[in-house]
Amino acid sequence: MDFTNKDLVSIRDLDRSQIEYILDLSKEMVPYARGEKVKRALDGKIVASLFFEPSTRTKLSFQSAAMRLGCDVIDVSEMSMTSIAKGETLADTIRMVNAYSDAIVLRHPYEGAARLAAEVSNKPVINAGDGAGSHPTQMLLDLFTMKEAKGTLDGLNIALVGDLKYGRTVHTLAQALTMFGVKLTLVAPESLQMPQDIVDSLKSKGCNPIRTSNLEDAIDEADVLYVTRIQKERFPDPTEYQKVAGTYRIDNAILKDAKDDLIVMHPLPRVNEIATEVDSTRHARYFQQAFNGVPVRMAILCAIMGGEM
Ligand code: CP
Repeated sequence: MDFTNKDLVSIRDLDRSQIEYILDLSKEMVPYARGEKVKRALDGKIVASLFFEPSTRTKLSFQSAAMRLGCDVIDVSEMSMTSIAKGETLADTIRMVNAYSDAIVLRHPYEGAARLAAEVSNKPVINAGDGAGSHPTQMLLDLFTMKEAKGTLDGLNIALVGDLKYGRTVHTLAQALTMFGVKLTLVAPESLQMPQDIVDSLKSKGCNPIRTSNLEDAIDEADVLYVTRIQKERFPDPTEYQKVAGTYRIDNAILKDAKDDLIVMHPLPRVNEIATEVDSTRHARYFQQAFNGVPVRMAILCAIMGGEM
């Protein structure tokens, strides 16, 4: 399967066989991601890491992934430290970065920024999160984490919990999961439910999600509880945030009737959606999930940047 020089901007860039290919390649990357083996598949290449919005996991795991493959990284962390602060457009910035790198990883606060970048770029663009839009590499590491834990993605019972309105990870993940015939439950306060256009898209692909605000309804039968932070920074009105802050909190008491092999995932950062007492239970999978960002992003970089595999 040839991904060389392809952009990865949204779920629309991938079909099931391409997702499975990346997941298989990610598994091969695990010992290299752990530093147990060495692979210099991108020796001599340069990736530009443009993070115009805060990030710990995505930024550092991309950089770790690149370095594990022998790829150099050039890096900008704040728009204020680029000539965007002097009025340069994103399009011109991307054209400049094309001259200095072989691929661009972009996080941006505005939905659609990665698509715009891909349209003007002559090097592949990987979307590392654009506003409330998409987060396709997070989706791939989420699927990898579920598949590693459950052995399959097909037919899983998955509850997405929390901020389904502004959470870009769940927008992308829900759409990907339709390819695997999952049973999906959307648990959110009414004001933070999944946008109707995404629900319509899920239905058009044969997935009829259950919508509820009651977390207890979803836990007993779930194989995967995918919890998200309420995205305070995306609320136009802080009083609206206050109304829903702290709506859901996963602790050991609420998990008492869960399946033995339920896994709790979270893209992180968490604020207080998951009590720290859950961290040491058999259910917790969110720190493993964060590590999985390295092998999955190694697979993505290798595939897109034409690394020897
Ligand atoms: N999951 C995720 O995107 O985390 P960061 O914002 O820390 O990159």
